[in-house]
Amino acid sequence: MKITSAEFVMSNSNVAKCPNEPLPEYAFIGRSNVGKSSLINMLMERKSLAKTSGRPGKTQLINHFKINNNWFLVDLPGYGYARVSKKDKKVFQKYITEYFQERKQLVCGFVLVDIRHEPQPVDLEFMEWLGTNNVPFAIIFTKADKLKPNAMERQAKAYIQHLLDSIWEEAPPHFITSSTNRTGKEELLRYIDDINKEFFSS
Ligand code: GTP
Ligand code: MG
Repeated sequence: MKITSAEFVMSNSNVAKCPNEPLPEYAFIGRSNVGKSSLINMLMERKSLAKTSGRPGKTQLINHFKINNNWFLVDLPGYGYARVSKKDKKVFQKYITEYFQERKQLVCGFVLVDIRHEPQPVDLEFMEWLGTNNVPFAIIFTKADKLKPNAMERQAKAYIQHLLDSIWEEAPPHFITSSTNRTGKEELLRYIDDINKEFFSS
């Protein structure tokens, strides 16, 4: 897919106020600093369409970008847990869960994980939560430039195996990327393009 336009539309913390055009939408989610905003810039070939930072917590709010005038990319803040009760129960931040539960246009959530790290409970729990809520998702391994090709393949394989050994019967689609080296760009854009075609033909 060729990117002909990419424009920032709006930021907000209220899913009800997100754009209401019936266009397919893809959201980038994951821990702070995993590289969500950088990946959006890499895919769009723009240096600072989405704001990035070496310090975690750069992206706040739900940020909509309209691409080629016919689909949306959404940059989200890093998820974490919010404490909600005396019993120290932990849940994901409310506006993030509301976004995923209520956003009808959402056709795929991309869960980003740093390829160097072992599976982290917060990511596994978020994927499980997406599954429980019937939200389609794919995994994007980020920062592949930090590993040698062999180690990179090994890490991704071990991660997927971990999912299969725990609660998943099927491996979700997954992509290995580097925003620094542009690894994975064409594969991801093709994946999005295929879903868009299905969306518009149904
Ligand atoms: P929050 O908005 O805080 O949730 O973070 P984020 O997930 O949007 O991360 P962001 O894109 O701001 O990147 C965080 C840091 O990781 C920045 O210093 C980036 O330069 C760096 N980074 C992102 N992607 C890559 C990558 O593919 N390779 C390398 N080496 N560094 C990366
Ligand atoms: Mg960000």
